[in-house]
Amino acid sequence: MNGTIKISDKVYYVGVNDRDTYLFESLWPLEKGVSYNSYLILDEKTALIDTVKETKMSEFFNKIRSLLNGKSLDYLIINHMEPDHSGSIPELLHEFPNIKIIGNKTTFQFLENLYKIHDNFQEIKDEDVLDLGQHKLKFYLTPMVHWPETMMTYDQTDKILFAGDAFGGFGTLDGGIFDDEVKIDFFEDEIRRYFSNIIAKYCPMVQKALNKLRDANIEIKIISSTHGPVWRKDPNRIITLYDKWSKYETEKGVVIAYGSMYGNTEEMADYIARKLAEEGIKEIKVMDVSKTHISHIINEIWRYKGLILGSCTYNQGLFPYMESLVQWLAHNNIKNHVLGIFGTYGWSGGGVSTLVKYNEQMKWPLVYQPVEARLSAKIEDFKKLDELAKAMAKEINS
Ligand code: FEO
Repeated sequence: MNGTIKISDKVYYVGVNDRDTYLFESLWPLEKGVSYNSYLILDEKTALIDTVKETKMSEFFNKIRSLLNGKSLDYLIINHMEPDHSGSIPELLHEFPNIKIIGNKTTFQFLENLYKIHDNFQEIKDEDVLDLGQHKLKFYLTPMVHWPETMMTYDQTDKILFAGDAFGGFGTLDGGIFDDEVKIDFFEDEIRRYFSNIIAKYCPMVQKALNKLRDANIEIKIISSTHGPVWRKDPNRIITLYDKWSKYETEKGVVIAYGSMYGNTEEMADYIARKLAEEGIKEIKVMDVSKTHISHIINEIWRYKGLILGSCTYNQGLFPYMESLVQWLAHNNIKNHVLGIFGTYGWSGGGVSTLVKYNEQMKWPLVYQPVEARLSAKIEDFKKLDELAKAMAKEINS
């Protein structure tokens, strides 16, 4: 039926893939695209849960029309108002002028301010239930996962949690929709990239939402996020990962992120990596800030406990791409890491000393004194890098 997919007896996936957008939020590269997931429940009353980005409206509407097959659409449930999910709402109202829009007080403020929509509202409060006939939908307000209006919708009948952005990530759904139909490692990595760059600033609110679901003591058989696969085989896996990430729990491993104009700082990065390997560290990521998008670096940093930052000096300060990285790390308030610092200078310092100053804000334990070489590392500098690598390995293995 025109590309639609059943999630359960009366619940359908009507999401779309976006392979056109280059930068999500005009910030985050979509090398493997992204899906905007939406769901349609065909009960005595019909309900659509979230919509899709405006640019993908045509395909989306074809799916809905085909499934409705002339029936009316009674409800639109809005879990999240960011335009990747709300962009089709104005046109939806045009096509279904009698639809009731289900949201909370804050949802309607966004609708009014984004799209100048003022009517058709049916406000719900935390834990209200909407009866569609066989399906009863219970709403849980989960603010700041990812915007203030965000909420989750739980289908008490089929035990499906429609979670908004939570548990979702980048990557199109190329045929496979469910967690048991796709290479899940790829999606877990992209879900962490979405989380660590977009959601992570609000970790305490993510914890609050997870605790709310726990306290509600609901059985979750399926998680249907607005991005990425539908989790029906092992929904607990993504809940566990989300819990771990939002508690700032890390794995054993080290990211060495460096900025280097002519390879001298890079040489120091590679040297440290080799020494870490000799010390038994298996997960080592050496990342060039000039060539690797910041979202991928932050993703790896979120994952691993150890971070070693290396910068050449540029105009008496940090290398610009390194400056951008440390600003984002501070912005996302990343915690629970141990730090090493190294770098180079020519005639004046500025690279290493700025990293040291930056850490006054982050307050990560320094595993060893900062190592700074003039233009390129000499024997005495390499000896210090040996000590830096040993100290980092000791922390990681402790
Ligand atoms: Fe997928 Fe916060 O939007």
